[in-house]
Amino acid sequence: MPKKIKSAKRVNEFESLFKCPFCENSMRVVNDRSLICAKKHTFDFAKQGYVNLLPRPSNSHYTKELFEARHKIIMESNLYTSMHKTITKMIKEHMDVAINPFTVLDLGCGEGSHLQKIVDECKSPAITGIGLDISKESIIMASKKYKDSIWLIGDLAKSPLVDESVHVILNIFSPSNYKEFKRTLVQDGLVIKIVPRPNYLKELREFLFNKTEKEIYRNDKIVSLFKKHFYLLDVFSLSYTMNLNQAELKNLVQMTPLAWSSDKGRINTYINQDSAEVTIDLDILIGVNK
Ligand SMILES: C[S@@+](CC[C@H](N)C(=O)[O-])C[C@H]1O[C@@H](n2cnc3c(N)ncnc32)[C@H](O)[C@@H]1O
Ligand SMILES: [Zn+2]
Repeated sequence: MPKKIKSAKRVNEFESLFKCPFCENSMRVVNDRSLICAKKHTFDFAKQGYVNLLPRPSNSHYTKELFEARHKIIMESNLYTSMHKTITKMIKEHMDVAINPFTVLDLGCGEGSHLQKIVDECKSPAITGIGLDISKESIIMASKKYKDSIWLIGDLAKSPLVDESVHVILNIFSPSNYKEFKRTLVQDGLVIKIVPRPNYLKELREFLFNKTEKEIYRNDKIVSLFKKHFYLLDVFSLSYTMNLNQAELKNLVQMTPLAWSSDKGRINTYINQDSAEVTIDLDILIGVNK
């Protein structure tokens, strides 16, 4: 069966979750081909299986190369394994086995590998993964690679999902819109937000920039804003250093926007090392929708 039809059938099971990004009316899957609202605004499934629910086209600074590099690092190195395990554990602890389907929505999902890993590790057929990103490149990539989840091009600040339809929101290194998060989450739903801490990728930052050129990153304001909107159930601070080989270092440089503003010579010297230490330093904020 063509991917487009398979996806339309899958979304059909969940059509009550969607609302029109133009007029907010409810939507239906029609002829295994399009999501159509009561006012006939029509959104066709693409051949890769995703659906574009962006009210207007948007320019993303993130390139296909950046998302390919993120895919390789997330799937082929163990750099984010501890983060995936912690998130999975929290979802399983929170999950009510009586709820089926149980929706996990990744907002700003990029090329989808974090969501895929987490849903796989939860090993629960009740879980349905939904990935949403404003970048078309990233969602094309996600829908080509991962068939079981629902992939949407959309704006997390104007979500195409109805009120109280989502059980867990993931928000991994991506922007937030807490008003929309709260609206779409069920009562007592979880929001799991990943924010970098000061030493996140510190070796790469130190190598590419003099410390005076680039401010050290602090996440205090993000954490206090999060606490204003959600009951803070837990914060896990993960901090560890891993050794990456030459191929992994190249992907690491390509997966972050840091390289955009740094000197080409320094980038080349960095990626020509046989191996190097890389520090992961991040907070996993676990909030409950009050
Ligand atoms: C640093 S990337 C992180 C991607 C992914 N979570 C990961 O960790 O690999 C930030 C992502 O947020 C997405 N993004 C930015 N603004 C957005 C918006 N308003 N709505 C949806 N996605 C957005 C970008 O397109 C990008 O994929
Ligand atoms: Zn409409």
